[in-house]
Amino acid sequence: MSKSKKNRHSYISVPSQIITPLSSSSLQNLLLSPKKPSKNPNRIFRNPNSLFIFLLFLFAFVGMAGLGFRLHPLLPFSAIPCEISEQHSSFSAAVSAVPVAGSVGEEEMEEFWKQPDGLGFRPCLDFSQEYRRWSEAVSREKTRYLMVVVSGGLNQQRNQIVDAVVIARILGASLVVPILQVNVIWGDESEFSDIFDLEHFKRTLANDVRIVSSLPSTHLRSRPVEEKRTPLHVSPEWIRSRYLKRLNKEGVLLLRGLDSRLSKDLPSDLQKLRCKVAFNALRFSAPIMEIGNKFAERMRRKGPFIALHLRLEKDVWVRTGCLPGLSHKYDEIISNERKLRPELLTGRSNMSFHDRKLAGLCPLNAVEITRLLKALGAPRNARIYWAGGRPFGGLEALLPLTREFPYFYNKEDLSLPGELEPFAKKASLLAAIDYIVSENSDVFMPSHGGNMGRAIKGHRAYAGHKKYITPNKRQMLHYFLNSTLSEREFKRIVKELHQDSLGQPDIRTSKAGRDVIAYPVPECMCKNVKKEMRHVL
Ligand SMILES: *[C@@H]1O[C@H](CO)[C@@H](O)[C@H](O)[C@H]1NC(C)=O
Ligand SMILES: *[C@@H]1O[C@H](CO)[C@@H](O)[C@H](O)[C@H]1NC(C)=O
Repeated sequence: MSKSKKNRHSYISVPSQIITPLSSSSLQNLLLSPKKPSKNPNRIFRNPNSLFIFLLFLFAFVGMAGLGFRLHPLLPFSAIPCEISEQHSSFSAAVSAVPVAGSVGEEEMEEFWKQPDGLGFRPCLDFSQEYRRWSEAVSREKTRYLMVVVSGGLNQQRNQIVDAVVIARILGASLVVPILQVNVIWGDESEFSDIFDLEHFKRTLANDVRIVSSLPSTHLRSRPVEEKRTPLHVSPEWIRSRYLKRLNKEGVLLLRGLDSRLSKDLPSDLQKLRCKVAFNALRFSAPIMEIGNKFAERMRRKGPFIALHLRLEKDVWVRTGCLPGLSHKYDEIISNERKLRPELLTGRSNMSFHDRKLAGLCPLNAVEITRLLKALGAPRNARIYWAGGRPFGGLEALLPLTREFPYFYNKEDLSLPGELEPFAKKASLLAAIDYIVSENSDVFMPSHGGNMGRAIKGHRAYAGHKKYITPNKRQMLHYFLNSTLSEREFKRIVKELHQDSLGQPDIRTSKAGRDVIAYPVPECMCKNVKKEMRHVL
């Protein structure tokens, strides 16, 4: 106990200066003006500054041409106005205030953006002949119906929807479109079709499970068998032996609380089905896709970008039994809340904060994320998108990050006035936007494990082994505390600790209870995929 007290403040490094929040309007200028490179070159002349600079450019080009420089024939003139108007916006001011390369060398920078070697693993969802033979009967099934109520945040719901499809297949039942339970914490009443593209979901899975929007009139009067207490990690045999008879008799089975009920180790075809649902069938609805892709494109406009999933919200600190390390006052608030509501603590309760931290059970705070990113070679001018809710301690909690990485944005920073309005106060829709931008980033890193991190890990692997940094918390935190370690040595050690996981795909091993949705290799991705076997949807 005394040990933990003594060390408590070793983590605290966020200075308590008053934060000057990044001016969001200047960020918007930087990102958003102009909205699009104009197709019509005349448009640039609306702005006298643009005209002036355009003429300067023109004279420079003419001069160069006269001196024997040859202009590239494909030089896109329509791109020039874009560069110009950005230069006289806040862009030049922001750039001159920031040393572009920082302390990171060219080579290191290149390495940071380098993508892992996929070792030739590509998506392969080739189902067995037996599976396909049974598909005919399953897709015509009209007597038995599975209804599910899924709960939790967006990514928890996703996991449960995936398992619901697999359970319907195991039972040979039709699946009624999953009902999303309104979560008391998130308070989002969105339905399946608000979040996901329902037609695409049905169409993609048409050969695997028959999916219907509602119970048919023939079954409206049946009394569904309701099951709330399916044990954890059950096998397909367990499901059949337990539910099939009742389902045949009543016609409708209603399952709730599906979280982690179905085993992570299933026969090959069912694992592939899991991947098919997660990576192909569950596509976000058109309005969400549109805005998510728009934000990703705004991030990418100036080159590659990093996405961070930050878990710095108050409830995360309370639940994990960890301290945010902002200041004594904030740590005290968290400790007190935890004492008042011990039932919230999901971490091991008899471990001290210090031990928990060193065991890698705590989310990284902003200081630690900054040090980790720098050690791994992230350049100072890297553009960073951060996903997640409001950090405990407000913007001040992000200060270590924004000071080292000034191009730091979230969805609010990237949006034009009113653009996010249709999604306001809808936690699932906002989480979906974060998901899309994160999925599209060049490098992704979560500050803590969790459903979103796991889902994105698998999704990125499936989409072509896009770089995913799993902080090796268990091993690296000792070095964060060692003040005698030189910065150079620290960097070398941190890089070494992450070398393996960054270099190649993580393979799913059943021992670790790993989910194929987070680790699609080798069940859903294989080497030497034959062309005709490649599952294109
Ligand atoms: C913590 O609790 C677990 C069981 O919950 C027990 O096995 C372990 O010995 C305890 N550790 C300490 C340090 O008390
Ligand atoms: C800190 O690092 C130095 C240099 O590697 C090492 O000799 C020392 O044992 C470390 N201290 C602790 C407390 O781990």
